[in-house]
Amino acid sequence: MSQLPSILVLGCGSIGERHLRCFQKTGRVTVAGCDTNPALRERIASTYGVPVFDDYASALNAQAWDGVVVCVPANLHTRCSLEALAAGAGVLIEKPLAISMEGVDRLIEVAARSGRYCAVAYVFHVMPWMQAARDFLLSGELGRPLHLALTAGQHFPTFRPAYREIYYTKHETGGGAIQDALTHLINAVEWIVGPVTRLYCDASHQMLEGVTVEDTVNVSARHGDVLASYAMTQFQAPSEVTLLIHAERGSLRVLGHKQTWSVMRHGEQEWTDHVIAPLERDDLFIAQANAYLDGLEGKPTPLSTIEEGAQTLRVNIAALRSVSTAQPITL
Ligand SMILES: NC(=O)c1ccc[n+]([C@@H]2O[C@H](COP(=O)([O-])OP(=O)(O)OC[C@H]3O[C@@H](n4cnc5c(N)ncnc54)[C@H](O)[C@@H]3O)[C@@H](O)[C@H]2O)c1
Repeated sequence: MSQLPSILVLGCGSIGERHLRCFQKTGRVTVAGCDTNPALRERIASTYGVPVFDDYASALNAQAWDGVVVCVPANLHTRCSLEALAAGAGVLIEKPLAISMEGVDRLIEVAARSGRYCAVAYVFHVMPWMQAARDFLLSGELGRPLHLALTAGQHFPTFRPAYREIYYTKHETGGGAIQDALTHLINAVEWIVGPVTRLYCDASHQMLEGVTVEDTVNVSARHGDVLASYAMTQFQAPSEVTLLIHAERGSLRVLGHKQTWSVMRHGEQEWTDHVIAPLERDDLFIAQANAYLDGLEGKPTPLSTIEEGAQTLRVNIAALRSVSTAQPITL
């Protein structure tokens, strides 16, 4: 039997632990972790029965890795990804790709030359309702998309009680609603209708206690010819994502919280719903892990490329600049 691919999860905090568990659940890999936090290392090692390194350089030197899942705060993503590539591994990089463009062109170049499989972990790409809605829109049945509206949010203190103690507290470590949450939505929509070409962003800290970064964002954008509006908060009660795309011959709706996508053609009065069998959050991360492993085997995957991640990073940076200058930005 051929040897299973080896995956190193760098940073075993909230999302790193989930990646580690979900890669392990694929049954297709050997997994190890790396984290600087001793108590966390001990818990991860005993819970999952995996080796956990205390130092990234030592982990990279310890053996050859097929892939490194980069789950440290975003200001470390570019450097840690380059180190993984230099050690001969591919990378699956958590979102956002980075917090600035520094080193990103080099990362794209090195990744392309490496021949290793590299992707960004924008998890919306493995949501079956997003995939189906995208496939339907790209089939052309509704004609060209012309306008879209996305409203989303959640009560962050409920979902991430530790938000005051993590990367979220500072823009410099990838924090705030724009880099932390809006980036998922922008990347998903860019994947469906194409890149943002212009935007105006208004954002503010409205409510979340113990932080000063923005928790509320409104964006008016153009994705080429498609006009778009985004509204999200991280203090609202409902945990919801509603995307409406209006095209030449009808409309498409995705309700992420209901795991459904729907179509209404011009002249119709009701949505035709397509309901997906219910999935838990880990199911999505297992699907993402399987997609990454497919990529390692040279198969096509729906995952975000590093180039797409870099485009969404440009949008994050433009959105932050638009907020600070109160000006629209052309990308
Ligand atoms: N896709 C998603 O749904 C999702 C959800 C949460 C976070 N994220 C992203 O994942 C990344 C991590 O977020 P998180 O919530 O897991 O943060 P976290 O603070 O819970 O975990 C980060 C971990 O990295 C470790 N670490 C930091 N520097 C290190 C180093 N040099 N070497 C080894 N370990 C190091 C820390 O000890 C910590 O355990 C961020 O980029 C974040 O935006 C994505």
